[in-house]
Amino acid sequence: MGEIMATASAAGIEAMGFHGPTHYVDMAELAVARDVEPAKYTKGIGQTQMAVATPCEDTVTMATMAARKALHAFDIDPADIGTLIVGTETGVDHSKPVAVYVHELLGLKSNCRTFETKHACYGAMAGLTSATDWIMAGRARGRKALIVASDIARYGLRTAGEPTQGAGAVAMVVSDTPSLLRFDADVMGDYTRQVMDFWRPLYSKYAFADGHYSIQCYLDAFTGAFEDACSKVDDPQRFALDQLDAAFYHVPFVKMARKAHHRHWEAQLGEIGEAQLPAIAESFEQLVAPWLSLNAVVGNIYTGSLFLALMDYLRSGDAARAGKQVSLFSYGSGCGAAFALGHVGDSAHESAPLLDPQAELDNRVRLAIDEYETLTRATEDADSNEAPDPDPAQWNHSDGLFYVGTREHVRRYEML
Ligand code: HMG
Repeated sequence: MGEIMATASAAGIEAMGFHGPTHYVDMAELAVARDVEPAKYTKGIGQTQMAVATPCEDTVTMATMAARKALHAFDIDPADIGTLIVGTETGVDHSKPVAVYVHELLGLKSNCRTFETKHACYGAMAGLTSATDWIMAGRARGRKALIVASDIARYGLRTAGEPTQGAGAVAMVVSDTPSLLRFDADVMGDYTRQVMDFWRPLYSKYAFADGHYSIQCYLDAFTGAFEDACSKVDDPQRFALDQLDAAFYHVPFVKMARKAHHRHWEAQLGEIGEAQLPAIAESFEQLVAPWLSLNAVVGNIYTGSLFLALMDYLRSGDAARAGKQVSLFSYGSGCGAAFALGHVGDSAHESAPLLDPQAELDNRVRLAIDEYETLTRATEDADSNEAPDPDPAQWNHSDGLFYVGTREHVRRYEML
């Protein structure tokens, strides 16, 4: 007879790390170059800066660096990782998962199950819930899961989507000692619908988007996932906005979180009248706006955008938040969505300095718009077999992991 596995009583996030590109553009400057009123980008869309990846920074390098930071800062032994999942929609190979490069670069054990998940921006949430189930079912046997969300959002120069680009990775260690955030595994709401709001065919490095329609699809998905979550509990009051200390949404651009929060109220109350608008605006300022400052300077990082807002909240290090309830809404175009609840860990505030990426963001290099355009064109063919090897020194990279070219159809990476 096989050994009976003990189920876990809790699962959630124990450690987090962010890694983003070393370069960015200023959104007001980009607006001027595109003959657009700067307030459209900075207020209408809500972005002040946008991270830009060089040809030497890709999904693998960002995922690996974010994971190294999470493991190192929270003193987690790579040998304890029993599951590695990379959620991405900007994989580097049609077959080989980004996760297996990350597995090697982190030196994880060979009995760590490793795979990539893809469903647009929902990919990392899918990985996170799968890892939570693995732990709750008792299959982890004391080991931890490493979930990494890593992406580069590319729509191309002078497109409507251009101001909603970005790049970066968020790594999360999920375990049965969730000192940062414990998930309420029983109450997740799900939503799926085939829509053509945003997609990227295999032959294209750039995404195609029906921008305004994608916003509608996102909001409809919120309603669907929220209603599904409510249908799974005896008392839907559990999801009431006044029960929350923070509400996190997928953030393709900062203004989208405001629209999502409005829909959150509609989903809870039904129709909204003029009289309720001030209360909704106040609720947005309390539960959502304070945690959008990282998204505002990094841009859309697809799978990681929701978790970047969560990091922003956790980095504030407020002991009074211990045990408080928060909501998380993940949306992936195409489309799939999930609405979940979590509770802040009792010692989360002590870890705030360990996950705060501010120092690195402050050290980024600002690109002039012509430099950003040159860099964007340089990334277009950088990973073809015929292209000259990209040189990290050319892009002022001095330390970290970098992509250094493809030879004999094999991608190569170097740690400087
Ligand atoms: P657009 O047509 O260039 O912009 O597209 P707009 O005319 O809709 O203006 C944007 C906002 O700026 C509006 O605010 C304007 O009023 C305001 P709103 O009415 O929406 O509140 N505005 C101004 N505000 C102040 N001063 C001014 C001014 N001018 C205008 N002077 C769009 C914008 C986001 C559609 C475009 O950039 C796009 O297509 N982006 C890509 C698609 C996208 O991000 N969709 C989001 C939902 S889908 C999703 O989140 C999934 C995704 O992350 C992918 C995945 O899942 O993998 C994208």
